[in-house]
Amino acid sequence: MSGYVDLHCHLLPGVDDGARTPEDALEMARALVDLGFAAVAPSPHARPEFASAEVCAARRSALQRDLDVAGIALRLYSNAEHALILDGFLDGLGTKATRAINDGRYVLVEAPYRAPVPALPDLVFRMVRRGVTPLFAHPERCQEFERPGRAAEVVRLGARLQLDLGALVNRYGPVARRLARSFLGEELYAVAATDLHGPVDARVWVAKALAELAARTDAGRVQTLLRDHPERILRGEALP
Ligand SMILES: [Fe+2]
Repeated sequence: MSGYVDLHCHLLPGVDDGARTPEDALEMARALVDLGFAAVAPSPHARPEFASAEVCAARRSALQRDLDVAGIALRLYSNAEHALILDGFLDGLGTKATRAINDGRYVLVEAPYRAPVPALPDLVFRMVRRGVTPLFAHPERCQEFERPGRAAEVVRLGARLQLDLGALVNRYGPVARRLARSFLGEELYAVAATDLHGPVDARVWVAKALAELAARTDAGRVQTLLRDHPERILRGEALP
């Protein structure tokens, strides 16, 4: 695999609030390939109001076929975005109910945007103890991570953090941008991803965000965040 790997992307059509149609998905995929991506682990929301794991898996196979037919060089891997505080999430850890990244040890999980999670360190400890490495989606957009020192603390406990590239170009407001800059500067992020939900302006804002990332860190770190670490996560390997 050579090229960037997007571990947080709502690329599957008609399964959640991401791509609505196969045409949307192909347009998003074309933009990602043109911007340097070679693989995506589409991450539909694992919530009762959205499509089941089975439907998502079928949709992923269908999209892979569509990509291959269209000559769009993008490999797809299994994944889902779990809600940390959803009933049953912790109980399902380590079972099939949890849709780990490429069926490995990493699980993409999001904390609530607008609610504190004082028990977060304990939750991370319990996940790690069950053999799961939580990859926190866009911590810079989640209230609990505004607490000073919280991000570093959960990384120390074994969690990994995913930068939402859009935060760097202010898609989520000044607080998220400030935290993203700060966590990036502290080298707290393990990976960067798009959390892309649709094709509108995708090509433009993702390009701007990649340029902003490149301006804020060195070229080696960009490769680490967008290629090397995501590849290791797909293989279920520990990160250095
Ligand atoms: Fe997402």
